[in-house]
Amino acid sequence: MLQERRALERYFCRMQRIAIFASGTGTNTVRIIEYFKGHSSIGVSLVLSNKADAPVLEKAKNLGVESVAFNRGEFYDTNDVVDKLQAANIDFVVLAGFLWKVPDNLLKAFPDRIINIHPALLPKFGGKGMYGMNVHRAVKESGEAETGISIHLVNEEYDKGRMLFQARCKVLESDTPESIAAKVHELEYTNFPREIELFVKSNEIA
Ligand code: GAR
Repeated sequence: MLQERRALERYFCRMQRIAIFASGTGTNTVRIIEYFKGHSSIGVSLVLSNKADAPVLEKAKNLGVESVAFNRGEFYDTNDVVDKLQAANIDFVVLAGFLWKVPDNLLKAFPDRIINIHPALLPKFGGKGMYGMNVHRAVKESGEAETGISIHLVNEEYDKGRMLFQARCKVLESDTPESIAAKVHELEYTNFPREIELFVKSNEIA
């Protein structure tokens, strides 16, 4: 049944299938799933998390998207996650608040097809340990007058892949790490789904 549906999709219009990796709350994941609901050529087929109790898994399931968890051993010591993506005919991978480094087997299986969002203006405030509120606290402490989001391709180094898009917002003296996080999240919700769409459309897998 599933095989038949996929074959039909391929025949009439090659749907580009996205898998989202997320570690936590999943507010971006929800926006992305909703954005592509009913889309003519792009869909979110799978959500994966490194945490079995991550709220993102339940949210994705409620939106009708298959969701699965994996552990560290499966991710780093086996090919299970890549096998799962390939069995689901995934074309592009999106990291939306995913906190583990992407292993080589996954990079090789999806060369220049893994997109990450980072909640600051890279190359500033990137690298190991720089995620979520850690980033916003560092921005506040540094006294920067602006911050923003960076959407980029993933390579072997944390936060160093080719930049696709950045957007900025001001940091006021009155801002707290929490209010900075809220501004950055708004920028993410406005831009991330659309940038994924633009990237996928210009790199469609035939
Ligand atoms: C987002 O702000 C995303 O940019 C950040 O985690 C948050 C996830 O929020 N990603 C990183 O920090 C990666 N280094 P969400 O779970 O509500 O979408």
